[in-house]
Amino acid sequence: MIEGYKYYLADTPHPGRTVPVDHDPASFAETMHYDTEMILRSEADLQAHFGERWQRELNRTYTALLDPDRLVVGIGSGYGEHEFLLHRCGYRVIASDIVPGLGKAFSRLDPSFRFIRIDAFRDDYAERMKQNQIDVDAFDILITGLLFYFDDAKAHDLLVRIHDNLGLNSHLVLTLRYRDGLIPRFADAMAGFETKIMAAVRRRGIVRKHHGYRRSAKDIEILTNKAGFRTVSKTQAMFGYEMTRSFLLGQPHLVKAACKIDQRLPLFHSAVVFDLIKG
Ligand SMILES: C[S@@+](CC[C@H](N)C(=O)[O-])C[C@H]1O[C@@H](n2cnc3c(N)ncnc32)[C@H](O)[C@@H]1O
Repeated sequence: MIEGYKYYLADTPHPGRTVPVDHDPASFAETMHYDTEMILRSEADLQAHFGERWQRELNRTYTALLDPDRLVVGIGSGYGEHEFLLHRCGYRVIASDIVPGLGKAFSRLDPSFRFIRIDAFRDDYAERMKQNQIDVDAFDILITGLLFYFDDAKAHDLLVRIHDNLGLNSHLVLTLRYRDGLIPRFADAMAGFETKIMAAVRRRGIVRKHHGYRRSAKDIEILTNKAGFRTVSKTQAMFGYEMTRSFLLGQPHLVKAACKIDQRLPLFHSAVVFDLIKG
C-alpha cells in the first residue's frame, strides 16, 4: 500500500500546501463536488453525468457477479449511479452514503429507486433499512469505491464491520478502484510533473492533495482474509483508466491503445472487482 496524491494549481503564487485525505462527510462532499440539489431530468442528463465508458465496464462486471434475485445494498454509493444502473437491469438494489441528501439525483428519473443514509462504520445496516421502511431479507453488499480513504488499520475495522453485517451465505462485491502498481505510479508521477511545469509557467503554487491509499490486488486479499473473507473471484475493469490521470498519457489515441492492450494483459486498468464470501 502507498499513499496516492493529486496535484492542482493553487490560486496564489505562494509555495504549495498539502491537503490531508478526506475524513468526514463535509470533506467527502467537497472533493466529490456533491450537489444535493442536483436532479437528473432526462436520459440525456443521465448520459451527461454518468455515461462514461468506465462506468459501463464496472456495470458489466457487477451484473456478472451479483445475483438479481437477492437484495443488493450499496455502501459509500455517492449519488448511487452504479446502483441505479443495476436497478435498471432489474436488480432490487438500495444505494447509501454517509453524506445525506444525495438520493434526490435519481428521484425524478425513477421514484422507485431507493437511497438511504448509512454510516459504514457505525450503523447496523439491516436496522437502517428497516427504519427506512425497506423489507430486509438476506442481502449482498456492493462497494464501488470506498476503501481507498482508509489506511490499513481503519480499512480492517471497516471490513470487520461489513463482515458482521453480512449474513452467512452473502457476498461482498468489493471494488479496488485506486490500484497500486508500476503504471499507476508512473501516471501519478507524470501528472505531478505536468502540474509543476504549469505552476512554473503560470507562476502559481501547487496544492498536493492526499487522495487516499493505493493498494494492489494482493494487498486487498491480505486485508479481506484478515477480516474473515474468502475470495471467490477477481475481475479486471476500467481499462486504460490510469492513463487519464495525466494530460500527456491521457491523449485519446494513447488511452485507446492502452484499452486494447488491457484486454490481453491488464496493465493500465484501474479497477479489480473482488467477489468475497465469509470464509
Ligand atoms: C469515491 S466515492 C464513491 C462514489 C461513487 N459511488 C463511485 O463509486 O463512483 C466514496 C463515497 O464513500 C462515502 N463514504 C465515506 N465514508 C463513509 C462511511 N463511513 N460510510 C458510508 N459512506 C462513506 C463518501 O461520502 C463518498 O461518497
